Amino acid sequence: MTSTVLENIAELITNDPTLGDQTAMGRVVDAAMVIDEQRVLWVGASADAPDADERIDVKGAAVVPGFVDSHTHLVFAGDRSDEFEARLRGEPYDGGGIRRTVESTRHASRHDLRHVTARRAHELQSSGVTTLEIKSGYELTIAGEERLLELAGEFSDDVTFLGAHCVPEEFAGDRDGYVDLVAGEMLERCAPHARWADVFCDRGAFSVDEARTILLAAREAGLGLRLHANQLSDIGAAALGVELDVASVDHCTHLSDDDVAALASSRTVVTLLPGAEFCTGSPYPSARRLLEAGATLALATDCNPGTSYVTSMPLVIALAVREMSMSVDEALWAATLGGARALRREDVGRLGVGARADLLILDAPRAAHLAYRPGGAVVGRVMRAER
Ligand code: NIG
Ligand code: FE
Repeated sequence: MTSTVLENIAELITNDPTLGDQTAMGRVVDAAMVIDEQRVLWVGASADAPDADERIDVKGAAVVPGFVDSHTHLVFAGDRSDEFEARLRGEPYDGGGIRRTVESTRHASRHDLRHVTARRAHELQSSGVTTLEIKSGYELTIAGEERLLELAGEFSDDVTFLGAHCVPEEFAGDRDGYVDLVAGEMLERCAPHARWADVFCDRGAFSVDEARTILLAAREAGLGLRLHANQLSDIGAAALGVELDVASVDHCTHLSDDDVAALASSRTVVTLLPGAEFCTGSPYPSARRLLEAGATLALATDCNPGTSYVTSMPLVIALAVREMSMSVDEALWAATLGGARALRREDVGRLGVGARADLLILDAPRAAHLAYRPGGAVVGRVMRAER
């Protein structure tokens, strides 16, 4: 193993409260750190930096943990920019376009799907994403969902089975039959390729009872659980998420006071996806209400063709800060350790000793530049540990 010391770090964000300023951010100024190809070995003052095989002088840059994007739908084909334009004319998003992507994706070759997924994954990685979740959900047949999960697995360790994204055309008159398929044979074939199961539980998508049936079957099959909840309306999805102790409920624009209190006293992370509100022109969820209640928040891109064709975590951070009144620290924490919590992972999202050496050297002296320079090339270098 080759050790490398990074020195002259003006601001190091570790998300380890035992380090530096002892806050949740674990902020160390005038810092250095030593890593090998896989882990963080040492963190401290630049003046105390020990010897290592190699030295990188970051010349007064800020260093932050690599972003953990805990919610993406990267594997899809086709184009829905016309829907985006329709929304600019005032048409609301209702989830109806998912079937169009299903149609295009079913007709795409494995080779072409791999190519477009690689391009999107590369864009995310260039924006600083070092850990990525990817969902299926755009074929909705047994073989098709299996194919999407296999492809997703080429780019991610956190692959999510989303057979319950919408009821496909051929089951339009038999939704119970489709729920049985998803919770039965489709799950059986897909579970070996996935770590997680998700359901789009909302008005016009799957009901709370349908989601419970599918998620309980998925848990039985050994998968971890997550949920698209309360994006379009409050039908009780977030409450179901708490009931089932899912790792994360995602979107959460329409929450009751009871939901907020239940989430705050649970282990379930609330993942906010402001790219979706930005792209659809919908109201943003209330991050402050959740933070003040004590809920744990993550931020993710939701990269998908319908609501959020966003491949930049710095943009998500900038939106969270300007549009949802999160502080830069809160947003950066949510985009790193918050994402790790949403994936129930201990090894990423932080830069304390023992964490994976996934880090970003910014072209900036302070992490605040991630929000301060929206659209700018703030992420200078992405270093990702060997897997
Ligand atoms: O997270 N809400 C459901 N799924 C996606 C949108 C999918 C689509 O419109 O293609 C979302 O917003
Ligand atoms: Fe989504």
